[in-house]
Amino acid sequence: MCGIVGYVGKKNVAEILTGGLSALEYRGYDSSGVAVLADGKTKIYKAEGKLQNLKDLLKEKQDEIITAQVGIGHIRWATHGIPNEVNAHPHTCNCGKLAVVHNGIIENYKELREQLEAKGCVFKSQTDTETVAHLVAQKYGETQDLKEAVRLATSELEGAYALCIIHQDVENTIVATKRNAPLLIGVGEGENFAASDVPAIIEHTKRAIYLNDNQIAVLKPNSIELFDENNNKIEPKVELLPWEPIALSKMGYKHFMLKEIHEQPDVIRNFLSGKLHTANETTKLDEVKLDKNTLKNLNRIQVVACGTSLHAAMVGKYIIEELCEIPVDVEASSEYIYRKTVTDEHTLVIGVSQSGETADTLTAIKQSKARGSHILIITNRPDSAMAREADSLIPVNAGIEVSVAATKSYVAQLMAFYLLAIHLAEIKGSYDNSALTELKNELMLLPQKIELFLTKTDKIQKCSRMYSSSKNFIFIARGINYATALEGALKLKEISYINATGYPAGELKHGPIAMLDETLPVLSIMMKGKVYEKILSNAQESKARNARMIALTDSTDEKLDEIFDYVLNVPSVHELISPIMAIIPLQLLAYYIAEFLGKDVDQPRNLAKSVTVE
Ligand code: G6P
Repeated sequence: MCGIVGYVGKKNVAEILTGGLSALEYRGYDSSGVAVLADGKTKIYKAEGKLQNLKDLLKEKQDEIITAQVGIGHIRWATHGIPNEVNAHPHTCNCGKLAVVHNGIIENYKELREQLEAKGCVFKSQTDTETVAHLVAQKYGETQDLKEAVRLATSELEGAYALCIIHQDVENTIVATKRNAPLLIGVGEGENFAASDVPAIIEHTKRAIYLNDNQIAVLKPNSIELFDENNNKIEPKVELLPWEPIALSKMGYKHFMLKEIHEQPDVIRNFLSGKLHTANETTKLDEVKLDKNTLKNLNRIQVVACGTSLHAAMVGKYIIEELCEIPVDVEASSEYIYRKTVTDEHTLVIGVSQSGETADTLTAIKQSKARGSHILIITNRPDSAMAREADSLIPVNAGIEVSVAATKSYVAQLMAFYLLAIHLAEIKGSYDNSALTELKNELMLLPQKIELFLTKTDKIQKCSRMYSSSKNFIFIARGINYATALEGALKLKEISYINATGYPAGELKHGPIAMLDETLPVLSIMMKGKVYEKILSNAQESKARNARMIALTDSTDEKLDEIFDYVLNVPSVHELISPIMAIIPLQLLAYYIAEFLGKDVDQPRNLAKSVTVE
C-alpha cells in the first residue's frame, strides 16, 4: 500500500516529510525513506523497520539537509522485495540525480526492467518501483523536461501508481501523478504538498486538489500546474478539506485499539443522530437515493467488500433478506472482479469499506457502475475514491480509526446496514411495523448496554490470560452471528498471530471436529434466539471431544457453567442486532491476548489499514 508525501517550500523539509509519514503509518510501516535536494544534490536516506528509525537517522544527518527546500518521503508496505533498506523508497537512477516514491504496483515491471537493463540501467533493488526511476530518467535524458519525461514514462506503465518525483537539475520542483491509487495536492502559501491521504497535510493546509487518474501536477513553492495525459493544461479545482487537524491521542488508554473499542457506544449514538429520533418514527436516510419505483424494480443486491468490511456485509445480507425480502449476495471483491458477474441496472451494488480506497472493492464497484447498477457506498471516508463513485453514500462517521485492526468502523458499518435495511423495509412495506419499531427501539438502547458491558471486563481479561498460550482457536456460531465468529477469529489472528478460524457451528462435525482435543479452545457464540439450542448441541459435541470450552452469551442459564470453562456474559439484546453486542467481547478478547503476549497491537506485523493494491 505505502504512503507518500512531498513538500516544496521554506520550512524544515525533513520535519514536514516525517510528520506527514507519521500520519500515513496506517498504510504500512515496514521501512521508510526520504529524498531531498540540498546543496545542489539529491540526497536519499532510508531505514528499515518503524518510522522512528528514519527519524533518528535524519536527526543525525540534519546538517547535510538543513538547506533543502524540496523533498519526497515514503512509508512502505512491501509488495515486491522484502522490507529492507535497499528496497525502501525513494529509488533512483544510474546517475542518482532523480528520486521517486511510489504507491501501487507496476504490473509490467519485469518487461520494463529487462528493456532498461539492456540499455545499461543498473538495478539495485527487487522493487517494481525502481523501473519507474530508470524509465523517467531515460525520458528526461531525451527531453530535458521532467514533466514530459514523467508523462512519457507513465504512458508505458501498466498497473497502479501514485508517484512523486524530484530531480537534481530541476530546482524546487515535484512532479506528481497517479493512476488507480490515491494522491492529493495540498495547496499552501509559498509552499505546496503532495500526499496519499489528508492526515499527512491537514496540519499545514485545508485546501487541496484531488488528482484524477493520469493527470500530472507540477509543484513549485508558489505555483501548481496541472496537465492531462495529452499535455493540455487544466485548471485545478481546489477543494476545502472537511477535516480539522486532529491531535491523535490515546486519551489515557494503552493502545488506540482499546480506546477505539471504548468509543463504540458513541459511534452508534453518532450514527443514529439525525437518522432515528424515536422508535415510532420512520428512519431518515436521505443519503439513499433509491425511490419506491427503483426499489420495486430491484431484483437483487450485490455487496462487495474485503476483510472486516466483508463480515459487516455478511450481517447486512442476513438483515436485508430478513426485513426486505430482496436476495443479497456477498462476495470478496478480489474474487468478484475476476469472473463473469451478472449485475445490471436492476441490481443495487453496495461497496463497504472503512477506508474507501481498497483497490479490489474500488474496481468491483467501477465494473458494476459501468453495467448500470446503482452504487451505494458505506464508508468511514466520505472523501475517498469510492465515495466519489457513489450514487448513494452512507458515511458511517466513526471518526479516525488509528489501530490497524478495525473495531469501531465495523460496528459503524453494521449500524449502516441496520438502518439501510429498516429504511428499505419501511419504503417497501415488507416487514411488520411493530417488529420494526421494536428493532429501532433496541438499536437506540444499544449504546447504554455496551457502555455497561465495558465497565466489567475483568472476566474477559482473565479468560484472555488463560488462553493466551493456545496455538489455535476455533469460533463457532450460527445464523446472523456466523459473521461474528469470522470477525472474532480475524481479530485474534490479526493482532496476536494465533491461528483462529470461524465456522458455522453445524459444519463442525464435517471436518473441523477432527482437530479437537484438550488443547484446543472452542468459543461458542450463543446469543438467545432461533438457533440458541442448536448451537448449544454443537458446543456439546466439542465438550465430548474434551475441547476447552468458552461461551459468549446473553443467556443467564446457570446450566451453562456446567458445560463451559468460561462463560462470558453480555447484556441481553434482540437476536437480529446481537452481532453488534457479541463482537465487543471478541474484540476485547483479541486485544487482551495480544497485549498479554506483548504484541504490537496497533500496528500488527505485515498488515496495513488501507490496501490500495490488488
Ligand atoms: C485491510 C485492513 C482491514 C480491513 C480490510 C478492508 O486488510 O487491515 O482491517 O478490513 O483492509 O479494508 P476496507 O478499508 O475496504 O474496509
